[in-house]
Amino acid sequence: MGFPPNTSLILITIFWLFIIPGSIPNTTAITALCNMGMYSQGDPFGISLDYVVAELERATPMSKNYDFFNISPFPNAFAYGHATCNLNLTNSDCATCLGAAKMTMFGTCLSRIGVRAMLQDCTIRYKQYPFTDEDDG
Ligand SMILES: *[C@@H]1O[C@H](CO)[C@@H](O)[C@H](O)[C@H]1NC(C)=O
Ligand SMILES: *[C@@H]1O[C@H](CO)[C@@H](O)[C@H](O)[C@H]1NC(C)=O
Repeated sequence: MGFPPNTSLILITIFWLFIIPGSIPNTTAITALCNMGMYSQGDPFGISLDYVVAELERATPMSKNYDFFNISPFPNAFAYGHATCNLNLTNSDCATCLGAAKMTMFGTCLSRIGVRAMLQDCTIRYKQYPFTDEDDG
């Protein structure tokens, strides 16, 4: 006799439990706060902002403690960014959550000079001026 027929089922179950991550990021939006100030089309701030947000998405999942600050490199208009993920996420779940956070941020607050979006499992924010975690807006 070979293995009982349900052995393969057990092995598949074990595979799912240990190989496939057991959780997905919770991308429920908690808040999205928009600065009242707006920037116009063609403002160099838009280019700086694109740079900062793209780098936040790329670098935060690779950063220590999923906590990453950055500044745009272009001297004519600075953008300052910060993103975090909950530490119980995998790198790819952190990236997934930040993608959702970006959509929340730009979906709720279009063309603003500052936005702060908090999801259940990650946060993302940017501003025209340096900020700390304690700042509002
Ligand atoms: C991660 O932990 C936070 C609390 O720190 C919890 O709210 C969240 O649901 C957890 N996420 C996952 C994917 O386990
Ligand atoms: C995700 O977070 C929201 C807000 O905290 C909570 O109401 C919801 O139950 C969570 N969803 C899951 C699948 O954990």
